[in-house]
Amino acid sequence: MTPASPRRTAGVELRGLHKRYGAVVAVVSLDLRIEPGEFVSLLGPSGCGKTTTLRAIAGLVRPDAGQVIVGGRVMNDVPVHRRGLGLVAQNYALFPHMTVLENVTFGLRMRGMQPADVMRRAHETLATVQLGKMEDRYPRELSGGQQQRVALARCLVVEPDVLLLDEPLGALDKKLREAMQVELKLLQRQVGITTIFVTHDQEEALTMSDRIAVMHQGRLQQMGRPQEIYESPQNRFVADFIGVCNFLECRVTRRENAAVVVSFEDGALATVSIPAGTAVPAEGARVVATVRPEKIVLKPAQPGFAGALHAQLDDLVYVGTAVHYHLRTAAGTRLVAYRQNNSAQPPGLLPGASVLVSWEADAVRMLPE
Ligand SMILES: Nc1ncnc2c1ncn2[C@@H]1O[C@H](COP(=O)(O)OP(=O)(O)OP(=O)(O)O)[C@@H](O)[C@H]1O
Ligand SMILES: [Mg+2]
Repeated sequence: MTPASPRRTAGVELRGLHKRYGAVVAVVSLDLRIEPGEFVSLLGPSGCGKTTTLRAIAGLVRPDAGQVIVGGRVMNDVPVHRRGLGLVAQNYALFPHMTVLENVTFGLRMRGMQPADVMRRAHETLATVQLGKMEDRYPRELSGGQQQRVALARCLVVEPDVLLLDEPLGALDKKLREAMQVELKLLQRQVGITTIFVTHDQEEALTMSDRIAVMHQGRLQQMGRPQEIYESPQNRFVADFIGVCNFLECRVTRRENAAVVVSFEDGALATVSIPAGTAVPAEGARVVATVRPEKIVLKPAQPGFAGALHAQLDDLVYVGTAVHYHLRTAAGTRLVAYRQNNSAQPPGLLPGASVLVSWEADAVRMLPE
């Protein structure tokens, strides 16, 4: 358990995982592959099947179809306690009548480990989660974040091959939650354990994960590195769920090398890069252009200027680190643009102003309509 000791960790694979509860289909033909040592988040809105997936890996939910493979071994018929997994459940509870140390040693004592070894392992693990000085306290004498770390220590102390965490930071306030995200990620790197982390918070997933699996209505929508998920969403759900995104309906008017020219509702034209390996839409096809608010450039409208989308600036919201501009096109499409608050407010960008909306060709992604 010390940082220096090499540990055994396992990859996890799901093949065609399927689970329904009566009429509710919770998980649909889910294929996932998680490499040893990787930190993967299952991300999606409430009810999308995250907990069901995690519990199926743990062995607490029996799949209707599909395989759960851990460390290359099919686990479907292996009981929970033989899978070598550590689970911190969504509504975890510490034993209130036991001290921190007793909570952490409980699992080892149940396994009949020698008392001296139990103590050594527990002390090491509590030091790793920085609770060495609080061993004799009761859960009620700890803050939310400290209780969270006890739950984590209780799980890590049995040296699982894979760590399964179900919204472990959900009950914490924003500041503590962000501090714990950094701490947990550091701890995971240090221990090197494969971790599957469930969250419905996209910022948390972007911050912590090597890769993110985005789920919606029981189906995997996209799996990729945080940057891929944010910069190249594969469908409208992913684009909308991860961060803030503007959607603009348009039509492909011309195909060029690795790019297309699209026309918007008001006749404005824009060039959109097509990333390598992506299908180029046909001329005349209706598509949806997606652009992130921080990639939009705003200028006061100039008479007679063509080649950019025109919009009206409805409102301007100051949020400290940035200014958010709320815009409306002539056809009524609402857009939002962000400007980093690192220079003076540009003149002419005031509520009621007519503005030109533009962006770099590679800042836009196209989705089929
Ligand atoms: N034991 C159960 N019996 C019936 N339906 C269930 C059961 N467990 C989950 N479901 C349903 O299955 C779907 C997926 O539930 P699941 O708990 O996996 O979602 P989740 O993504 O973890 O959501 P949350 O973010 O709210 O925790 C939901 O529609 C839920 O109502
Ligand atoms: Mg859940």
